Amino acid sequence: MKVLVINGPNLNMLGTREPHIYGGETLGSLNERLSRYAETHGVDMEFFQSNHEGAIVDKIQSSRGVFDGIILNAGALTHYSYAIRDVISAAELPVVEVHLSNVHAREAFRHISVISAVCKGVICGFGAKSYFLALDALVKDML
Ligand code: DQA
Repeated sequence: MKVLVINGPNLNMLGTREPHIYGGETLGSLNERLSRYAETHGVDMEFFQSNHEGAIVDKIQSSRGVFDGIILNAGALTHYSYAIRDVISAAELPVVEVHLSNVHAREAFRHISVISAVCKGVICGFGAKSYFLALDALVKDML
């Protein structure tokens, strides 16, 4: 089983970016912890981060047939990227949308996700734990 974790714009700044909202852990540390957790489930993980919409579209396009599922935190692109929505539909892979923060408890523009409808499910508000819950959901889905 292979799972790809994609993080979008500004998530490379985790650890220093608004830690009161996103927590104090770096993306590197989170990815390492996820990798170790995945191992105990027999899952191979790959990690990809980009601040560029097109790079994320390319990555999802090339995931078809390579990965069994994707955990996606699209960052702000969540709220307006129809290109990401369309590539999720085209990929025909289970994609779990995740957010560290509870986007529904924040500014109104964050209440809208243009990708949720084409994702398998959505997990938000649990900090770093959102990714672990997403992995659990994907692994159970695949079994
Ligand atoms: C985020 C929430 C988004 O609204 C924001 O633009 C992010 C991070 C989260 O993980 O809480 O970059 O996706």
